[in-house]
Amino acid sequence: MSDYHRRTAYAREAMTGHLLDWAHQPDPFKRYRHREVLPLPQPRPPRSGFWDLALAWPPPADGDAPALDAAGFAAIMLMSAGVTARAAGGMGDLGLRAPASAGALYPAELYAAACQVEGLADGLYHFDPETPGLHLLWPGRLAGAAARRLGGPPSRLSFFISAMYWRSLWKYRQRAYRYCLLDVGHLLANLELAVASCGLAPRFSADFPDASLGVFLGLASDDEAALAAVTAGEAPDDAGPEEAGLPPFDLQAQPLSARIGRDAEVLAAHAEGNLAEALPPRVWPAVRPPAGSLQLPEPERPPAGLLEVIRSRRSRRNFLPAAVHEKEVSALLKAALPEPAACQANVLLGPGGDLEPGVYRYAPGLNVLVPLPAPPDDARRGLARAALGQLWVGQAALVLALWADLKGLSQAGGPRAYRHAMLAAGRAGQRLYLAATALGLGCCGVGAFYDDEAARHARLPENGRMLYLLACGPVKGWGVGA
Ligand SMILES: Cc1cc2nc3c(=O)[nH]c(=O)nc-3n(C[C@H](O)[C@H](O)[C@H](O)COP(=O)(O)O)c2cc1C
Repeated sequence: MSDYHRRTAYAREAMTGHLLDWAHQPDPFKRYRHREVLPLPQPRPPRSGFWDLALAWPPPADGDAPALDAAGFAAIMLMSAGVTARAAGGMGDLGLRAPASAGALYPAELYAAACQVEGLADGLYHFDPETPGLHLLWPGRLAGAAARRLGGPPSRLSFFISAMYWRSLWKYRQRAYRYCLLDVGHLLANLELAVASCGLAPRFSADFPDASLGVFLGLASDDEAALAAVTAGEAPDDAGPEEAGLPPFDLQAQPLSARIGRDAEVLAAHAEGNLAEALPPRVWPAVRPPAGSLQLPEPERPPAGLLEVIRSRRSRRNFLPAAVHEKEVSALLKAALPEPAACQANVLLGPGGDLEPGVYRYAPGLNVLVPLPAPPDDARRGLARAALGQLWVGQAALVLALWADLKGLSQAGGPRAYRHAMLAAGRAGQRLYLAATALGLGCCGVGAFYDDEAARHARLPENGRMLYLLACGPVKGWGVGA
């Protein structure tokens, strides 16, 4: 699987531009031919604090959490994938959403099988961020059918996140599968936090039988694929059938544009990771920091509500030549990567703070920085040039480089492990954005980079492949830099 990543690497000497086909710009909203949009129930956002949720991660098992009702369900949908701002786009008014998205193309779609949610009919729903509303795709008790595909016990809530390839292919062509996975990871991070803010413990899964789940969600398999799932809530009184008795399906979505593009490389990359059966949850090995590593202090938890943080998160790139301090670094990294993950992280720090500038490896879970041999020049500047010349990256106080030994991962965990690594990078990215927002700092994801050059500047080991970069720090016009 590392082959797809290698084949879609950007190299300085081999870049060819292409014009965007505006006549076939994909619709950012999925529309069904035979389903009305139902109004979203009135949301009741929980009042949870961002830091309490993000730092005490993973949240404890459900315990005595109150049963979720329709208002809580609506809040989860909006916090995960709702429109949070308006901006001018290529075709006019563009709704910017709660998760960041490469090129604001929003390939990710959100579905939920809900069962015994007070005030909401049992069934499989698709979230429409535009209205905002719900498509009831399939009424009935589907907890058993969802659990059959996800491999765990039935739950009252099963969420599914898919990607519609064409939205991303339109701009990024073969590299689109990378962006689809990263984008799904961004939405996943919001979804997990939103679920946790309702007192429920989100259980993540990415190892489900693809064909069977695709049929369950009514996806056109060459155009859309489920990439992540989250279950939550206690077992329903009656989970419904695992297979039998499901009504015939007529879930036809309108095409995203008059002509839909497909890409053999993307389809093959996805197919290579396909599974026929669900796998048990994976455990990722921890980084073992050597002696002399730097223990970061316990982060502070200044008041910041999850909803407000999600709502005010935006990509901010106008970085000031200012530092982030040890306590901020600690909070940012611990919130982004609270536990060992399928991706690794190197951290580039600029001068002026109370930490030595340079490049570090981060040990999630332990909140420890391992200094790496210092480069002769400021690695952030090199990384900015490697980020296709997006020079603001070099000005950011902190750059997070998310990477993985893709070959090693695939040898140990099969080709499906690639999806895990990219989802983990997207999830960490969204969590970094949120933590930066809560601290009054700017943040921006960077998916466009010359892969080998970026790996060199971020001091990745020889087998390390760059997955995703994020620049973070004080910015002009927002928070501490305002
Ligand atoms: C995977 C990913 C890659 C991105 N890459 C870049 C990039 O290379 N350069 C950039 O300026 N912004 C990049 N962004 C930021 C998006 O442009 C931004 O999220 C989008 O325009 C929506 O705006 P918002 O984040 O303010 O909601 C990226 C975002 C994501 C999620």
